Parts: sequence; structure tokens; C-alpha cells
Amino acid sequence: MKNDRTLQIKNKYEIQITKADSLKELPDFNKLGFGQFFSDYMFVAEFEQGKGWYDFKIKPYAPFQMDPAASVLHYGQALFEGLKAFKRPNGEVVIFRPEFNALRFKQGAERLCMVPPPEDLFVQAIHELVNLENRWIPKDKGSALYIRPTLIGTEGFLGVRPSRKYLFFVILSPVGAYYSSGFKPVKIWVEEEFVRAAPGGLGQTKAAANYVASLKAAELAKINGYSQVLWLDVTHKYVEEVGTMNVFFVVGNKILTPLLDDTILPGGVRSCAIQLLKDWGYEVVEKKVSLAELQDAYDKGLLTEAFGTGTAAVITSIGDLSFTNKKWLFNENEYGPIAKRLYEEITAIQSGTKVDKYNWIHLVSNSNSTTSIGLGL
Ligand SMILES: Cc1ncc(COP(=O)(O)O)c(C=O)c1O
Repeated sequence: MKNDRTLQIKNKYEIQITKADSLKELPDFNKLGFGQFFSDYMFVAEFEQGKGWYDFKIKPYAPFQMDPAASVLHYGQALFEGLKAFKRPNGEVVIFRPEFNALRFKQGAERLCMVPPPEDLFVQAIHELVNLENRWIPKDKGSALYIRPTLIGTEGFLGVRPSRKYLFFVILSPVGAYYSSGFKPVKIWVEEEFVRAAPGGLGQTKAAANYVASLKAAELAKINGYSQVLWLDVTHKYVEEVGTMNVFFVVGNKILTPLLDDTILPGGVRSCAIQLLKDWGYEVVEKKVSLAELQDAYDKGLLTEAFGTGTAAVITSIGDLSFTNKKWLFNENEYGPIAKRLYEEITAIQSGTKVDKYNWIHLVSNSNSTTSIGLGL
């Protein structure tokens, strides 16, 4: 390690930067997939009760050393976020809605009795790390640098109580275009046995626990050729969300989406979709959506489209919703028109070909001047 230096952010935070001895070879940006490769650096910060957040660092990506009694390993205090940075055709680097993720992270941490980093530290840490890792941001349409902020309890003890020490870290992974082989609607399994989240539980957070709870059903669905599951509520009567997406249904001239409650993750792309649809003149209804009313609409030919919203794929058209004893098919396996329009609009705002009138874009650097940390990389 060499060239330690510090970076002052807004006279408030000081980030110590340690330069790597050597940099990794970049992967083939045409074969990225999702979450397979990680950039050269990560951001880390620590928290200790009585001391607050301290030791803000950008340092080479490397394994952590951890007490085997660390609370995350036993009692699951783990929370994460997922957002993306883009390199636009004109060279600008932007992040999509980091303030949204900062707030959701804070709210999730509070639900899990964890201490979140301040929201402005969350955003600035990501800004600086993305700026430093410019060479890791793919340029091709639909590709991005996926950002994974994570918070874990690190105090070593046994006993069920909140940790008094936390580690906040951010890692980066270049990801390929989700639809590199063309727009294909997905097949979704309607999960009528397992449940992901219960009222009063953690469903509205990105707690790691929610994802382990979802694995069994998702694995069974995959074995049977489905890409994800559609979760229902604990009574199996109401629709909640898809594995890593919120869900929308076009019924007649209305667009229905489940009302957010404590069992559903409040998705960032969900709120973008609602905003755009309303601006385009659609009536968007956020309410408890029952399978019975969807069945009725499907039988009458009124349920014409279903789609999911989420950071990974932005908008995903659903071509097939399969239950144990029946199937609903949409758009003859073509991408639904409203899903397509939303996808085009959101990705155009991300890539800068459409004006960002909603303030969703956080600028990291433009083509000729950067706020680069200047490590000479
Ligand atoms: C369970 C779940 N629901 C919904 C979403 C969509 O959220 P967002 O639009 O913020 O990516 C995600 C992905 O983050 C998710 O994991």
C-alpha cells in the first residue's frame, strides 16, 4: 500500500485514501452479467457506541477480518442497498437517485436497531468512490456500475441485543445490459405456499434476512423455468411484489399496484414509474390488489399487461404468471407497450437523452472536468 492521502468533504468528513499497489485487469465489458466482478476500491466506515462514525476510508477491495462472535454472523444485523451509476455517451458520470437509497437505508437501519451512517455521508461516500472508479463504469446502453452499500453489526458477543459496533461499506460491480439479447417478457411463478414477509416484520426493508427467506421459493421456481416468484400476502389473497421488483397490473384504463405497507419494499423505480404514468395521464391506483379482482379482470379480457420495476432490470414485462392450477398469459409473449414506454423513458433519463425534470440524476463528473480524487489512476 502507498500514497495515503486524505480528502475533505464539505469541511465535514475526511476520507483517508490508500492507493492500491496494482490495479485489476478490467473484465470484458461485453460479458459482465450481474455481480460477477468488483472494482479496485471500496469505501469503509466504522461506528462504535459513544464514539459515533469514524475512520472513513477508501481502500483497496479486500476481505474483512471479523470477530467470529460478530453479531451479523449470529443475529443477522445486515442491511444493504442497490443503485446504479452510468457513464453517458458524452462522458458524464451520473448516479440515479442516491438520496432515495440513503433515506431507505436509514429507515431500514432504524427498523433493524442498527445505526445508519448520516445520509449525506452515504451519498458522498458513493460519489467519491464512483468518481475514483471511473474506468470501471461500462458505457454501453443498459450497462452500469452497480453500487452495493452495506451495513453490518460487528461487535463480538453472544446474546440477542443490538450490536454496539457497525461497519458500513460500499463495493462496486460493473453489470451488463439486462436485455442484451433483446426484450423478452419473463415467466413468473405465483407463490401460493411460502411467504416472504409478514405484517409487523421486516418486509419493507432491504434486510439481508428478507432475501434468505425468499431463496427456497425462488430456487423451486427456477427449477421449473420461472425467473422469479410473485409473493402474496400471508393470507395468499393479495399480491405483494416480485422477487426483486415491485409489480404493476394494467386493468382497463387503470394501472394498479399494491399499496405500500410493512411487507413490501418501497422501490425507487416503483416511485419513478408512478410519477411518469401519472404525468402521461394514466390513473394509477395504489391499493391492496386481490387475486380475485385480477382473475375477474383477466376473465373479462381487461387485465392486459403486468410488469415489474426494480434497479437491476429497470422495467420487466411479465408474459406469463403461473399458479399451481392455472396460467395468465399476456401480450402473446411480446413486451407490453406500457412497460416498454416506461423502460425507454427511465433509461433515456439515465443516459441523458431525455431531460431530468424530476431531479433523479446526481452528477458525479462531466466529460472534461471531474471532481476526481486525483490519484492519477
Ligand atoms: C424485494 C424487492 N422489492 C422491490 C425492489 C425494487 O426496488 P428498487 O426499485 O429500489 O430497486 C427490490 C430491489 O431492490 C427488491 O429487492
